[in-house]
Amino acid sequence: MNHGIFEKNSIILLVGILIVVSIGGLVQIAPLFWVDSTIEKVQGMRPYTPLEQAGRDIYLREGCYNCHSQMIRTLRDEVERYGHYSLAAESMYDHPFQWGSKRTGPDLARVGGKYSDQWHADHMANPRAVVPESIMPSYSWLAKRKLDTSELEARTKTLRMVGVPYTDEMVANVTADIAAQINPDSKAARELLKRYPKAKVAKFDGVPGTEPSELDAMIAYLQILGQMVDFATFDAAGPNLR
Ligand code: HEC
Repeated sequence: MNHGIFEKNSIILLVGILIVVSIGGLVQIAPLFWVDSTIEKVQGMRPYTPLEQAGRDIYLREGCYNCHSQMIRTLRDEVERYGHYSLAAESMYDHPFQWGSKRTGPDLARVGGKYSDQWHADHMANPRAVVPESIMPSYSWLAKRKLDTSELEARTKTLRMVGVPYTDEMVANVTADIAAQINPDSKAARELLKRYPKAKVAKFDGVPGTEPSELDAMIAYLQILGQMVDFATFDAAGPNLR
């Protein structure tokens, strides 16, 4: 057998290994040069509303990620506890993403819609008010602090530079959309929903008025987590992929 040539001569064996490994490598790597993105698009994904994005920025500022991940693995115990495993597309507009395995608290990738806004408001003010055994710190100042909206338009433009598809219309309406999202039944809220389908419009912190608090932004963000893709009709094989 010719195989003997490889087995008896280490240099030829080495060259043979290199050839075989490079074929394997090329088959895996070469296609990546011809696809625009390795992330499969999924229907429903949209950029965050300005208020949700502001909440997300507060989430990062407060270090919530030190105890919470936003990534449901494909393992059965995770899927049974939290819901459908996370899709790559679900965090494609996240800068930075919140993947991880640090779970002092539960994963939050699908916490949207799980609780009422009032529950979140109480939980943020004092987690032990709603979950007596909780070790989560309280974030009571969020309700007292007015949301600083002065930089949100610039924030939106910056996110657009790194690939988040904010349209000119979205950028032009940042200020209006922030007020609209805490003003249910208004015309502005209907406009907001056209731009950002499935956004929750509510008096998140329970305080009337059009001046959002940091708590409004935080709850708006928590309530959209996991809500954009409709998993009741999601089919990994096809129709949902645009
Ligand atoms: C020191 C760790 C820690 C930090 C920091 C932390 N949490 Fe938690 N979180 C927990 C634990 C533990 C629980 C489970 C008990 C409970 O519900 O309070 C929890 C629960 C939650 C829940 C309910 C999840 C569910 O599915 O029931 C939400 C929402 C939440 N945290 C949001 C936040 C936000 C927002 C921040 C940042 C402002 C934050 N957490 C910071 C530990 C933490």
